[in-house]
Amino acid sequence: MSLDEAAVKPHEQLSAVLQADMAQVNDLIRDRMASEHAPRIPEVTAHLIEAGGKRLRPMLTLASAKMCGYPGPYHVHLAAAVEFIHTATLLHDDVVDESGQRRGRPTANLLWDNKSSVLVGDYLFARSFQLMVETDNIRVLNILANAAATIAEGEVLQLTAAQNLATDEALYLKVIRGKTAALFSAATEVGGVISGQPDDLVQGLFDYGDALGIAFQIVDDLLDYGGQATATGKNIGDDFRERKLTLPVIKAVARADADERAFWSRVIEAGDQRDGDLDHALDLLAKHDAMAKTRSDAIAWTDKAKSALGPLPDHDIKQMLIDLADYVVARVN
Ligand code: IPE
Ligand code: IPE
Ligand code: MG
Ligand code: MG
Repeated sequence: MSLDEAAVKPHEQLSAVLQADMAQVNDLIRDRMASEHAPRIPEVTAHLIEAGGKRLRPMLTLASAKMCGYPGPYHVHLAAAVEFIHTATLLHDDVVDESGQRRGRPTANLLWDNKSSVLVGDYLFARSFQLMVETDNIRVLNILANAAATIAEGEVLQLTAAQNLATDEALYLKVIRGKTAALFSAATEVGGVISGQPDDLVQGLFDYGDALGIAFQIVDDLLDYGGQATATGKNIGDDFRERKLTLPVIKAVARADADERAFWSRVIEAGDQRDGDLDHALDLLAKHDAMAKTRSDAIAWTDKAKSALGPLPDHDIKQMLIDLADYVVARVN
């Protein structure tokens, strides 16, 4: 590998290889995010979609299909459908989390209002189903419909798991597997299915997406405490303010003494947060090595993701997907 190649991040390598397909996906997204009937729709969708985002999930669909030798054209529709589902969940998620910043811009709920975010999110969900139907493939429709239901279940499960110190690592895993990994695994799975791959290869793709998505969300939760807003494009400390029980906090709570438990109970369960509490939370995370422990869990999931690709034949893209797993834990945005 040359120095130049080494400097390119794995997702940038993937986007270089998938550039032509991704351009088609972006054209399709731009075409379908419009509405002739309600001007608020293109205003909101353009605000969020033109801000970019990593386009990780559509890339996974394109990469899986290409790695499986699929000649097209429906991987483009599927990738656009996947990004629409993702964008719809972001619009809804920022309302639920009362977040103020996304992709380095003020959120739609802040710039417009909750009503616009919820309804434009619904519109994008509907547009994603239209795209799936165009593939005329009932199996991919089934996979993505299931994923959409699972994401919603994960977000709803999180409502009761949050603000409750009894939430343990098993419940946290259930939440993130639903709210985040379900779309990653569906994104890779549909790439294999549209290519007509045998069940064991499709399963490998699913398992890769599942483990990658879990690692991705664990790192998102780390970045919510330890990241930089200028890099993530989101406000740091949102999860703490929202009283979300994420993995670093779950690990610190499990090791808390009586005073520390009283602190967590006040800020997370009672929601009585004062100046300096986020800093104290960060001190407790450091004291119990919770960030480092969380990071090693994320690395273990990326190892699972990499080995899930075992049954897939050798291919340049396979290596990039393996490298992508490392990028997911090393990422800062
Ligand atoms: C944000 O996903 C939502 C999570 C699952 C943490 P991304 O970090 O992939 O968001 P964009 O698309 O790059 O903005
Ligand atoms: C993301 O959860 C999951 C979905 C959007 C479904 P988060 O609430 O952790 O994501 P961010 O941090 O707002 O991107
Ligand atoms: Mg959120
Ligand atoms: Mg988050």
